[in-house]
Amino acid sequence: MVQPTASGNGPQGILPAIDTRTRLYGVIGAPVGHSLSPAMHNAALQAMGCNAVYLAFHTTDPAGALAGMRALGMGGLSVTIPHKVSVMAHLDEMDPLARRIGAVNTVVPREGRLFGYNTDCFGALAALKERVDPAGKQVALLGAGGAARAVGFGLVDAAARVTLFNRNAQRGRALAQALGIEWLPLEELARHRADILINTTSVGMHPDTGRMPVPADCLRSGMVVMDIVYNPLETRLLREARAAGCEVVDGVAMFVHQGARQLALWTGRRPPVEIMRRTVLACLT
Ligand SMILES: NC(=O)c1ccc[n+]([C@@H]2O[C@H](COP(=O)([O-])OP(=O)(O)OC[C@H]3O[C@@H](n4cnc5c(N)ncnc54)[C@H](OP(=O)(O)O)[C@@H]3O)[C@@H](O)[C@H]2O)c1
Repeated sequence: MVQPTASGNGPQGILPAIDTRTRLYGVIGAPVGHSLSPAMHNAALQAMGCNAVYLAFHTTDPAGALAGMRALGMGGLSVTIPHKVSVMAHLDEMDPLARRIGAVNTVVPREGRLFGYNTDCFGALAALKERVDPAGKQVALLGAGGAARAVGFGLVDAAARVTLFNRNAQRGRALAQALGIEWLPLEELARHRADILINTTSVGMHPDTGRMPVPADCLRSGMVVMDIVYNPLETRLLREARAAGCEVVDGVAMFVHQGARQLALWTGRRPPVEIMRRTVLACLT
């Protein structure tokens, strides 16, 4: 479970020297009190030697936040729930992949214009590819929410053979149609032979940590099971999958890679992925 640190300054607890040239980055959302992005990004910015700070902004006004970003010359913004869709109306340009996904989690300023990107898609695929290349593999994708959209487009673009499973039939069918794949009800999963199973539902997330999105008998030795829920770090799904002989990919891997992609877009530099991962793990344990 995520606990606030005593200093409120992440596990590293060190602030950079702040002067008139310090660049401001941040995350907008409602709520953002639980966000691990400030700890992760501040650790990375320091390790990169950037004169910069990254703050969390609780706001219900994404238009105002973007106007503030322009006026203050901020270096970049992360966007989280519930603004990932509504923020798009206030951008100057959209990355084609973010447009297809229909959600933006990253705003990049360039020469006075604001560009929208979706790095959740990149993050999910980078995390999965640490274990397996999904090209040609049968993938069972669980969920049809915002994260499922980002992960789904990434999988389809990576030439995976994806089937979508979701509790709500209407939402499941709509996303499957947008992705050009088949939707099946969750009950069909036991009969489906998947090489890779990816949970993008919120089932198993704190505080309901005793729950899992599929029955344990759907998990077979040799499968790769990825859970994008990262609080707790080891969800019940991942615990049961490990016990069944599956390879597992936790949600921190996706979170770190989506954040690393944000930093690369903002700074044009290679981010310190392992420092980011260690920082997030220290917050979660
Ligand atoms: N690791 C990362 O970097 C990362 C990034 C983004 C999100 N996430 C995590 O991903 C999860 C989903 O986020 P989201 O933005 O996609 O949320 P969302 O848009 O609200 O979608 C939630 C999904 O969960 C399903 N669901 C919820 N309760 C369920 C239940 N009891 N049984 C079966 N299905 C259930 C919903 O199914 P119905 O359509 O049937 O309601 C829907 O498909 C969250 O836990 C979030 O923290 C992680």
